[in-house]
Order: sequence, then structure tokens, then C-alpha cells
Amino acid sequence: MPLSNYATRDVEALLHPTTNLNSHRTSGPLILEKGEGIHVIDSQGKRYIEGLAGLWCTALGYGNQELVEAAREQMSKLSFTHLFGGRSHEPAIELAEKIKQLAPCPTSKVFFTSSGSETNDSQIKLAWYYNNAIGRPNKKKIIARQRGYHGVTIASASLTGLPAFHADFDLPIARILHTDCPHHYRNAEAGETEEEFATRLAGNLEALIEREGADTIAAFIAEPVMGAGGVVVPPRTYFEKIQAVLHKHDIAFIADEVICGFGRTGNWWGSQTYGAKPTTVSMAKAITSAYFPLGALTVPEHVYEAMVAESQKLGVFAHGFTYSGHPVGCAVALATIAIYERTNIVGHVQKVAPTFQSRLTALADHPLGGEARGVGLLGGLELVKDKHTKQSFDGKIGMGAKVVALAQNEGLIVRAVAGDTVAICPPLIITEEEVNTLFDRLEKALDSAHVWARAEGHLG
Ligand SMILES: Cc1ncc(COP(=O)(O)O)c(C=O)c1O
Repeated sequence: MPLSNYATRDVEALLHPTTNLNSHRTSGPLILEKGEGIHVIDSQGKRYIEGLAGLWCTALGYGNQELVEAAREQMSKLSFTHLFGGRSHEPAIELAEKIKQLAPCPTSKVFFTSSGSETNDSQIKLAWYYNNAIGRPNKKKIIARQRGYHGVTIASASLTGLPAFHADFDLPIARILHTDCPHHYRNAEAGETEEEFATRLAGNLEALIEREGADTIAAFIAEPVMGAGGVVVPPRTYFEKIQAVLHKHDIAFIADEVICGFGRTGNWWGSQTYGAKPTTVSMAKAITSAYFPLGALTVPEHVYEAMVAESQKLGVFAHGFTYSGHPVGCAVALATIAIYERTNIVGHVQKVAPTFQSRLTALADHPLGGEARGVGLLGGLELVKDKHTKQSFDGKIGMGAKVVALAQNEGLIVRAVAGDTVAICPPLIITEEEVNTLFDRLEKALDSAHVWARAEGHLG
């Protein structure tokens, strides 16, 4: 089909992030025009359930007038001022106080950015600055995990443990290490329980630390539930065992809560869902329900005190973005958090999650369903060619992309991640009835994909 006018202009003018650039030239874009609640509407007037909350971020859905008003009011009053050199403003102060109160770890100060990538980049810089400040110049390596996703800037992409984000970008940079992905379905040995698997992974982490030397390792970073790496839920006892190793070797734990934070897993933080006790957390996305780009990280007191001394020595703590603590972003975040609290969004997720998870789990019985995994309002369905042997489809078939395209025909937007895992992460405001509609549409797409795969001879 020839591309429409806007589609042609898109192909002529836009370089799309995280896209197959060649196939985009013929397939063209899906152009969205409007959003209402959990729905988005494309330029042809077709309505979709936004089953990935944009990019795991539009927690309060679309068209929330309270958030629009918060942005409008702040833009009218003071559209911009920065936090450099001691300048400040009320929304940033109030938001920092609010985050201190909500954070899942003792927090002295809050540092703002505009994205998850900038946040994780800043985490690395602060870990280095801190270790230099306290006289440990060699304690600099950061351990991330295979299949983890932490962003795309040079340092945060290096943390990301997905090969496509490194290949031909000359990444990862030095001093970034990767340990095991905690995916029981794929990586456990035959007969290994979740607990045994977690014990083995903690042992592997410790072996890595001992090989490298604990005095060379500053921090470990992990998402409570891996998102872009395939919606990987940690095996039972995982964080408890990993944290014991980190504690023993005096290694900081950075929890990347960019997806899990603000209710997604049925608690305010994914760390709480999994009993993790991080040293610091990274957050972004749902902090403003994506009505404005904003990220933040928390700084514990001992790190802050060391930074104060170091900046005194050097004359300045020379890190920060023009938009660190953008007043409009902070005002929108405050309004977003106020809505989460007023509407008890965490309680709502807990109420709707059983329906979501039972519909998700049922998909494991579909002929294409390998593993269905998730928590709260986060889910992934890994598609397989053979559910008994867990054999994956040949990557060239693009099975995940096929299901995503067929779901789109059914009026559902989802995303294929880490190959053939269909990720589902709707706005948190979704109702039980809408959850059922979402999964009805996904089931239809899976049925069509199954018919297609059989007809094309992809099922062997
Ligand atoms: C866990 C996690 N960390 C970091 C990021 C990077 O965030 P951003 O795209 O805002 O830079 C993402 C984005 O999806 C993410 O899922």
C-alpha cells in the first residue's frame, strides 16, 4: 500500500529511535493523533488500547486535565529557572521533599534529570565522584546484568545488557561488567528450583567480584523487574541473596525503578515488592505520567557528605543539566504524585492485578505461548515454536513483531521486546473490564499469528 502524505513526510524527515530503519522506509509509521484515558487514536480515527502505556510511562493515561492544568499554571507563572549555582524554585523543593518521603531507601538529597538514561548516567558519575572523594580511586567498576536495560547514553547504554545497544556503537565503555540475567525459564539448569537458581546466580556474582577484586567495584545496578530485556521477574530469594553478596563486599546497590516505580508492581516501588533495600534509586517515566520529561535519583547521607567535602576541595560539584529540576516537570510530577495518593493508585493496581495476571497466565496455554510472566500490571508473554522444548522461533521470522502487528489490527498496542516476548504494561488507571478487553484482543492476535505461522510452515 502506498504511504499516506504524512507517512511519506515522516520517512523523508524523521530518524526514528530504536527502529529497523530499512523496513521503516516501506512500512512507514503509525501516526497517533489523540489520547483519551487508556486509549490512543491514530490519524485514520482508529482507536487502540495503549497496552504499553506509551513506553511503560503513561501511568495516568491520556487527557488528564489536572496534569495539563499543572503544566499550564507553572508555564504561565515561571516557565523556567534552573538549579545551578544555588538557584532554586518551589516545585523542585517540594518534589525533592516528596521523593525523600516516598523513597524505598534512606535519602538525604534528590538530584533531577530529564530521563532515565541521564539518571543512570548520573548514578555512575556520582558513584565515581564519591569513591574519589573518600579516597578509593580504584573502586569504580559497575556491575549490570545481561538483558538489563538502563538507557542509551554512552554510559547508560554500556550498562544495558542487550547486544543491539552495543553493536557498532563501540560499547560498552571500560569498567562496566555484566553478570547473569535472572531468567529462570531460560537460564536455570534442568531441575533447578528458583531458590537454587538464585543461589547459583549470587555465587556467580560473588565469583565475578572476587575475580575483579571488590576494591575495584563501586556499584551493582538492577531493575527490580527487567522491562525491555523481556519482562523478567526475579526468581524467589534473588535480591536477598544478591544483596548479601553486595553488602559483604561493600558495593552500592542502584535500583533502576524507571519502569517499576510509582505503583507498577503493586507497591510504590518494585524494590518493596521484592524486599530489595537499595542504596539509591533511579526513577523517571511515571514520575510525571510522561506528561513532561523528568528523571530523578536519590542520594544517601554518607554520599552527600562526601560530595560536599569534594566540591569544597574542587570549588564546585560540576555536574547538572540545564533541565535538572525543570519547574514545569516538577509541578507536573507533584500533581501526578498527588493523584496517585488521592486515588490510591497502588490499591487500584492491587485490585486489578489478579485479573491481569490470571488472563496473562492463561496465555501460556496458547499454542504459541512459552512462558507468561509478570507482576502487578506488568506482563510478558514469550512466544515459542515448541512449548515442550522451549525452542524459540528463528529471529528472522519476526514472530514477536507479527503478533504486535496483528494486535494493532485488533485495536491493541503492545511491543515485542528481547526478540519474541510480547510486553504488556497498560496505564495504571485501567479497569478490570478494560483488562479483559485488552487480553481478548491479544488472544485474537495470537490466534491469527498461529494460523499464519502454520500456513507459512514456521511451526516445523
Ligand atoms: C529500566 C529503565 N531504565 C532506564 C531507561 C531509560 O530511560 P529513558 O528512555 O527515559 O532515557 C528505561 C527506558 O525504557 C528503562 O526501562
